[in-house]
Amino acid sequence: MDTMLRFFGRRKGKTIGASRERLMQELLPKIQLKLPSKGKIKMNKLFPIDTKEMWLEIGFGGGEHMAELAKMYPNVGFIGAEPFLNGVSSLLAHLNGSHRFPKDETGLEAGRVDNVRVWPDDVRLVFPHLSDGCFERIFVLYPDPWPKARHAERRFINQNNLPELYRLLSPTGCLYVATDVVGYAEWVKEQMKIFKKFSLKNKDLIQAPQDWVPTRYEQKGIQAGRQPIYFVFFKKSA
Ligand SMILES: C[S@@+](CC[C@H](N)C(=O)[O-])C[C@H]1O[C@@H](n2cnc3c(N)ncnc32)[C@H](O)[C@@H]1O
Repeated sequence: MDTMLRFFGRRKGKTIGASRERLMQELLPKIQLKLPSKGKIKMNKLFPIDTKEMWLEIGFGGGEHMAELAKMYPNVGFIGAEPFLNGVSSLLAHLNGSHRFPKDETGLEAGRVDNVRVWPDDVRLVFPHLSDGCFERIFVLYPDPWPKARHAERRFINQNNLPELYRLLSPTGCLYVATDVVGYAEWVKEQMKIFKKFSLKNKDLIQAPQDWVPTRYEQKGIQAGRQPIYFVFFKKSA
């Protein structure tokens, strides 16, 4: 793998329980994003429904946020990327309904929306396979802050990834970034200033955007007294 694409986070945590492991073996292959050997991913072939638009969540953690959005917006197609496999298994349980009703079931429950495709790895491996302007929303929520200066190049919002996020957003699309680390919020502002091609849409950074669904990390942070900082960026026209 290209050293630029080295992933520094965790791939696995504690042992995944038997029912979630079964979801990983049986449900994941059904909804895992497959990369074409050539050409771009055909978004209109990914789902059994006609999707109105596509949204991308990068680093979905336990997947609660994306699973909730997928239920709220059944006509939107979602791609979620997360290399931490315990998080992927948690998303599958949310999609399947088994986080609330543990049972030995591996298919999507009858009637459940099937509008999520999962990339259980580094999102940067998918970028070359995605067409320009394919997403209406991209979420980068509570990215790992990598607070030490010597790890700054590991921060996801950087000059390697911003051009790709810019390319992938539709002309009317929005990039959502949230953090509760003041230093990371400053970093985002600096990176955006250097990149120049995004404008900030929201004026009040501590007011959650409309219809906001908090992530698990966000909820834990609020309970611990941390203040979320929200950025909504749109593309400046070229
Ligand atoms: C601090 S966690 C936040 C998780 C979730 N967004 C939340 O708010 O609960 C950051 C997540 O980003 C994931 N991540 C980091 N780099 C990534 C990458 N290049 N592609 C996809 N996910 C990534 C990590 O594995 C981790 O689960």
